[in-house]
Amino acid sequence: MKIAVGSDHAGFELKKTVIAWLEKNGYQYDDMGPYNEESVDYPDYAHKVAFAVTEGKCEQGVLLCGTGIGVSIAANKVKGIRAALACNPEFATLARQHNNANIICFSARFSDATTIEKSLQNWFSSEFEGGRHERRVNKIDPCS
Ligand code: RB5
Repeated sequence: MKIAVGSDHAGFELKKTVIAWLEKNGYQYDDMGPYNEESVDYPDYAHKVAFAVTEGKCEQGVLLCGTGIGVSIAANKVKGIRAALACNPEFATLARQHNNANIICFSARFSDATTIEKSLQNWFSSEFEGGRHERRVNKIDPCS
């Protein structure tokens, strides 16, 4: 499974934690930037990751910004994306099980490396449960 990874300047440092975890656990990834801590605009990177997922270049994505809110909002503007902000590892599990989320978003300023690693562990070991959740997920986009 190939994972698209991106952040803004605020998420740059913890993006390294995400990448180290993916490498350690045998996942392929595409680091879509940024590649230094210079100030950037989070929608640019959120959209890169989101389109990598909807175009099938990557199966899932990981995004980070200061709160995780900006990248979540921006990624969710791309049709077919269900980006979930994971504030703790339980959110990561439920985002997969109930929401079939395809991008997980983290706050770099209100989270830490251990929480992010545990959340990634949960995210990748959880499956969408379908059933009643599938009916609800199918209703998310009011324009489809
Ligand atoms: C950047 O200062 C900050 O606004 C950004 O990382 C993010 O928190 C936006 O939602």
